Amino acid sequence: MSGTGDFRPSLVRPALDGLAAYEPGRPIEDVQRELGLERVVKLASNEGPFGPFPQALEALARAAPELNRYPDGGAYRLRAALAERHGVPPAQVALGAGADGVIGSLCQATLDPGDEVVCGWPSFPSYVIDPRKLGATVRTVPLREGRYDLEAMLEAITARTKLAFVSYPNNPTGTITSRGELDAYFARVPERVLTVLDQAYFEYLDDPEYVDGIEAYVREGRQVMVLRTFSKIYGLAGLRIGYGVGPEEIVSAILIVRRAFDLNHAGQVAALASLDDPAEVERRRRLNATERGTIESALRAAGFDVAGPAVANFVYAGTGEDSTPLFEALLRLGVIVRPLHGFGAPEAIRVTVGAPAENAIFAEALAAVCATSEAPAQ
Ligand SMILES: Cc1ncc(COP(=O)(O)O)c(C=O)c1O
Repeated sequence: MSGTGDFRPSLVRPALDGLAAYEPGRPIEDVQRELGLERVVKLASNEGPFGPFPQALEALARAAPELNRYPDGGAYRLRAALAERHGVPPAQVALGAGADGVIGSLCQATLDPGDEVVCGWPSFPSYVIDPRKLGATVRTVPLREGRYDLEAMLEAITARTKLAFVSYPNNPTGTITSRGELDAYFARVPERVLTVLDQAYFEYLDDPEYVDGIEAYVREGRQVMVLRTFSKIYGLAGLRIGYGVGPEEIVSAILIVRRAFDLNHAGQVAALASLDDPAEVERRRRLNATERGTIESALRAAGFDVAGPAVANFVYAGTGEDSTPLFEALLRLGVIVRPLHGFGAPEAIRVTVGAPAENAIFAEALAAVCATSEAPAQ
């Protein structure tokens, strides 16, 4: 019998109030079917445009018949190889289901309700969402001229701050702070705060100003966790392998909170097989740099405010108004870009650098959209 007596309090934790589930991008095939398009180009999620390295494909083929087995929960071989590559003990390497998985585990390992986190904004949404899921408070610090403002981040740190996220380069603006600013930040940040230096796009950069955070700060013993991933230049986004290199205490805590079999076998073998092909990394890096120019030129020609210098595999453009109509107009022409409402920048889009043919299609579509919107009303 129902009555006033059977009021049920929600079982859901109050920390989740106001948070929304991740909204996945629509599959390319769906968009194609709905809009009757022959081809759709997706430049929306900052993946690399090329598939896994040949060695990774071979390793995957060899691994496929063994998928009845659970993976090695400790990812022993991959962890050892990464430790060797970075000149640190394996005890300082934390693997995760993507760098995003490491961010989630790191938050779970360190944050209690009421603890504080600092990050720049607009920036990578997980820095805000993951701490909030745990009841922590996030202080977002506005970017200065499209870059992380590390001085202002230091000012936002309080006695309750445990984590400070620095997206380096910043997603979505694609910019970096200078080496001097980063050094000055590390000289001043309190020891009790763990800085998460997110280098998800590391392999795309060859700027002498760009610091290898593992070499410069982790190996110096700073309180820093540097993040890297196989989702970008290595073309393995679908297999979800990322890692963090940092203090042993934090890595051990991540091992406790992480689920035992989060690191799937296919991802582990493909990542391991991708480590010994510097020539392919270099080829992809160079091509990306050239092609990034195509995207930037197209956006500038359209009159948008392009953030720069862009150094990763994506370009940010301020559109001066809500970017939804532009996103929709490009979609109708078969090009998916990223409107940035969820990143704190509703008047901007982010365009991932694709393969040359894809970038040409984007440039053409953008020019067509702009020509239409500038045409005098009939
Ligand atoms: C700054 C930044 N960090 C982390 C990630 C997560 O990457 P993944 O979980 O695929 O390794 C991304 C992905 O776009 C990113 O842009």
